[in-house]
Amino acid sequence: MSKAERTERLRRLREEALLGGGEKRIRAQHEKGKLTARERIAVLLDEGSFEELDMFVTHRTTDFGMAERKVLGDGVVTGSGRIDGRSVFVFSQDFTVFGGSLSEAYAGKICKVMDLAMKVGVPVIGLNDSGGARIQEGVRSLGGYADIFLRNTLASGVIPQISAIMGPCAGGAVYSPAITDFVVMVEGTSYMYVTGPDVVKTVTHEEVSHEDLGGASAHSTKSGIAHFTARDDEAALHLIHELLSYLPLNNMEDPPFLETGDDPERREAGLDEIIPDDTSKPYDMKELLRMVVDGGRFLEVQPHYAENLIVGFARIGGQSIGIVANQPAVLAGTLDIKASLKGARFVRFCDCFNIPVITFEDVPGFLPGTTQEHGGIIKHGAKLLYAYCEATVPKITVITRKAYGGAYDVMNSKHVRGDFNFAWPTAEIAVMGPRGAVKIIYRSELAESKDPAALEERLVAEYTEKFANPYTAAEVGFVDEVIEPLETRPKLYRALQLLRTKQDQNPSKKHGNIPL
Ligand code: HXC
Repeated sequence: MSKAERTERLRRLREEALLGGGEKRIRAQHEKGKLTARERIAVLLDEGSFEELDMFVTHRTTDFGMAERKVLGDGVVTGSGRIDGRSVFVFSQDFTVFGGSLSEAYAGKICKVMDLAMKVGVPVIGLNDSGGARIQEGVRSLGGYADIFLRNTLASGVIPQISAIMGPCAGGAVYSPAITDFVVMVEGTSYMYVTGPDVVKTVTHEEVSHEDLGGASAHSTKSGIAHFTARDDEAALHLIHELLSYLPLNNMEDPPFLETGDDPERREAGLDEIIPDDTSKPYDMKELLRMVVDGGRFLEVQPHYAENLIVGFARIGGQSIGIVANQPAVLAGTLDIKASLKGARFVRFCDCFNIPVITFEDVPGFLPGTTQEHGGIIKHGAKLLYAYCEATVPKITVITRKAYGGAYDVMNSKHVRGDFNFAWPTAEIAVMGPRGAVKIIYRSELAESKDPAALEERLVAEYTEKFANPYTAAEVGFVDEVIEPLETRPKLYRALQLLRTKQDQNPSKKHGNIPL
């Protein structure tokens, strides 16, 4: 064979590989409103930056006539590329080849990019669209999944791992995305579940659709598995771009700085207006956050799950920050099971990847009730507490209004190593709200009083005067500084600048035992 013929052979093979499962199946993919594996990579990565690996890998199965059914690449496209000029590794499951189902060779391709990503120290992005374990391969496929799960776990906290669900993701296959840091689901075309509608019907007699059982809406509102949803493939891939802009490439790097053009010393007069005169009235914490951060830009994580706690990424003075904030407009901003889980995972993510955590606090306490107690609010609330306690990244708190009870301790108090704890003049920092406190400490006086209602009002007013302010806490140094609301942005900026060289450590250990 001449050199020219050899080159021609390579070109032919490449062209064959690029076609995946063929024109007909590509058309079917498009008809479902989905991009192909390669089109997704093209949208995700900087133009022309994709370097493909293992393009000619094929499966090694001979059973069920599979020896005659080989497709170059075997159903997953893998390689490296750049996003906004920064390197990443990617794998993109190709539904046009055996329904994107996972063979031993296919798993080997994914493991290879994960191993490389760990050595190089850059994120892995997985685009999932697969019928699960390749049925013809049996246990070798299951082994392939476990090889991926192990790598997901070992990479956790070392490099960011992001999963987009862009088609089916069922059975044990769900556990790889579940271990990764963020899950983005495409509305209408993706679903995730451990057992599908048919099995559910057989076992529990429930009739449920794919969408209702495990679609983007179910997982973004009910289970909290999906951190983000997107209206189509392109939107999901653009969202991954935006998310990565806040993250470092690995746990040894600082997050990227981005000049935003918003003056970090900007004093925001609107903040003075935000807290209602009546302290029992709600307000929208998101409005407050947008006034503080650069350009009002806030990438909210899990926006439709546990809306009583807001978490997400933003910038102050160009520096990437993670925000955790109580939302007084939902459940009065109380902490419940879902909010605790949401907050704990987010704080731990930020701590893994050197992203300072800023906490905006307005919390009347933990949500009472048998549902919460029997659901384990004790251990779930402890997760949030544990996450804040163990975090060694810069930690700053702004108490805007209520900071009551155990929730005061949990929400990055000074005692759990808050670096700078600011309070607005409207802050109320106490063991409990004035009325509840009066009913307990003056129980006998109220019982004996001829006019208990009037006495209660007077005592509530006295208690409020004495404790419903930031000064009792400031007297003992539990609040570092009481600040005017309009000073919030410059104060946070300066604190962040100061904390850039912060060093803090936890005792040496194999790992802690977070109350799971
Ligand atoms: C081999 C598969 C496959 C699989 C789909 N295909 N899933 N081949 N192994 N798991 C093939 C189909 O035979 C078909 O091939 C092509 O992919 C497209 O599939 P369709 O069924 O035509 O597509 P669609 O109608 O869109 O349905 C998609 C689907 C369905 C819902 C995913 O294919 C399906 O239910 N597949 C089986 C899912 C499953 O039970 N997987 C194993 C689960 S156990 P042809 O040649 O006809 O076009 C598991 C355990 C993981 O995953 C454990 C990890 C620890």
